[in-house]
Amino acid sequence: MIGVGLLAVFGFSACAWRPAIDPISLPAAGSFSDGLVQRGRELAGVGNCMTCHSIEGAPAYAGGYPMQTGFGIVYSTNITPDRNSGIGQWSEEAFARAMREGVRRDGKHLFPVFPYTHFRLLTDSDMKALYAYFMTREPATADIPDNTLSFPFKVRALQAGWKLLFFENHDFQSTTAKSELWNHGAYLSEGLGHCGACHTPRNALGAERDDAAYHGAIVNSWYAPALNSNNAAPLVWTENELFVYLRYGVSDLHGVAAGSMSDVVHRGLVDLSGDDIRAIAVYFADLGGAGEISNADVVTAMKVTQADPGGAHVAGAELYESACASCHFNTLGSPSALRPELSLNSALYAPEPDNFLRLVLQGVSRKDGHPALFMHGYASSLSDANIAEIAQYLRARHVVHPDRADNNNWQNIEERVGQIRHEMEVSE
Ligand code: HEC
Ligand code: HEC
Ligand code: HEC
Repeated sequence: MIGVGLLAVFGFSACAWRPAIDPISLPAAGSFSDGLVQRGRELAGVGNCMTCHSIEGAPAYAGGYPMQTGFGIVYSTNITPDRNSGIGQWSEEAFARAMREGVRRDGKHLFPVFPYTHFRLLTDSDMKALYAYFMTREPATADIPDNTLSFPFKVRALQAGWKLLFFENHDFQSTTAKSELWNHGAYLSEGLGHCGACHTPRNALGAERDDAAYHGAIVNSWYAPALNSNNAAPLVWTENELFVYLRYGVSDLHGVAAGSMSDVVHRGLVDLSGDDIRAIAVYFADLGGAGEISNADVVTAMKVTQADPGGAHVAGAELYESACASCHFNTLGSPSALRPELSLNSALYAPEPDNFLRLVLQGVSRKDGHPALFMHGYASSLSDANIAEIAQYLRARHVVHPDRADNNNWQNIEERVGQIRHEMEVSE
């Protein structure tokens, strides 16, 4: 598969050439209206530009953020308007071409870890606003490390072939059968919000699979759950649950946003108006086919907490009761986001245990989930075997749920705890 793909890529590379766009001098800040810059700020939030283009301890948007790909690391670039190391010489035309076609001002191709495959849907007026926002930031110089991509993946010209295979540049097409709000949500999510960049699985050459949109995928060692009807949470994602989760990073019936989703919510969508968030919620509630959640549904889903999964899990049950249940205890039918109800949490219904194990090992910081709450990590106080026992016990409880008979399939959990612990130490 990779072989065939590469051949095609080499074949197409002959048409890789794109012209450079002339440099300009930085437009005066006064040439952009305040309203335009403000809208640009919100849009930059939806696009999560800050997370990918900033690193701790350096100026915002100055780049250098390492992105792991299957082929090596690609570092994000400096998108402040610095004349030499940033985009200070980029005209609006050059900026728009990068965002829509993944081509740099000098004509070289950009790699699709930069989600231009989504950003291409931006309307002209939103593009103008984003450009105004970035051209009015404080310029910062930055020295970005070289990418570590292996040959031939590092050859930018070959991206022309990749684009022929996987990329179609067209505007956002609205769906007339759906409401205006739904269409606005689709525009924000499919485009700038690039939700599919994490929630859709990719093929061997790193392109999102059209046949599996929003089926859930592993990204940066976290599982981004399915956002369609394959979502495994016991309670559906209604419009309101989505709204609350995306607005506050935590909901009573689904728990907290951690991992990279925490940045999406707290550093990205935070700048967005309630109406824009509502539109995204409307869109995904419809994709997931969500109806309403009744109180009886909540009670039924939480009944797993009363299940006794039997002798093999006594040790796990006791550990859970002594180490966790004092906080994670809710009255049947009234779960609170202040002590996330684990019987409702996607992490415990996911195909792999990774999110759950990471949450327990690392804890949930103040930056994640509820802004005023945190849970300390258990990396130093529980052994690999202990954490595995708790995971197995919680997972086994869920098997009593009639729709969850396949939930006893997490394998080699203890080994996985050890691996994640190791990954955490390396990345520190
Ligand atoms: C998922 C991470 C990610 C997000 C989100 C992201 N970028 Fe990037 N961006 C990158 C990476 C990585 C590169 C460098 C790609 C390369 O070298 O081929 C890049 C390159 C660029 C470039 C080309 C600059 C140059 O000097 O070559 C521009 C312009 C840009 N991004 C703007 C934005 C804007 C505006 C946003 C928000 C709307 C944004 N990016 C969001 C990862 C991201
Ligand atoms: C940078 C990667 C990334 C992007 C972009 C992203 N997500 Fe996520 N998302 C994740 C991860 C990882 C999780 C799991 C978080 C956790 O378990 O705490 C998640 C969880 C979620 C959940 C909770 C699902 C569940 O069953 O628990 C929802 C809803 C969600 N994302 C919606 C969105 C929407 C809408 C967008 C676009 C506006 C989006 N995400 C963009 C990575 C991402
Ligand atoms: C001192 C109280 C406390 C204890 C003890 C505790 N937790 Fe937590 N836990 C919390 C809080 C509070 C949060 C949510 C934090 C936030 O919103 O930022 C949380 C979050 C979580 C999450 C993420 C839930 C989600 O919605 O994604 C998991 C999983 C979790 N805890 C598992 C455990 C396990 C397993 C134990 C025992 C080993 C444990 N917790 C012990 C308070 C606690």
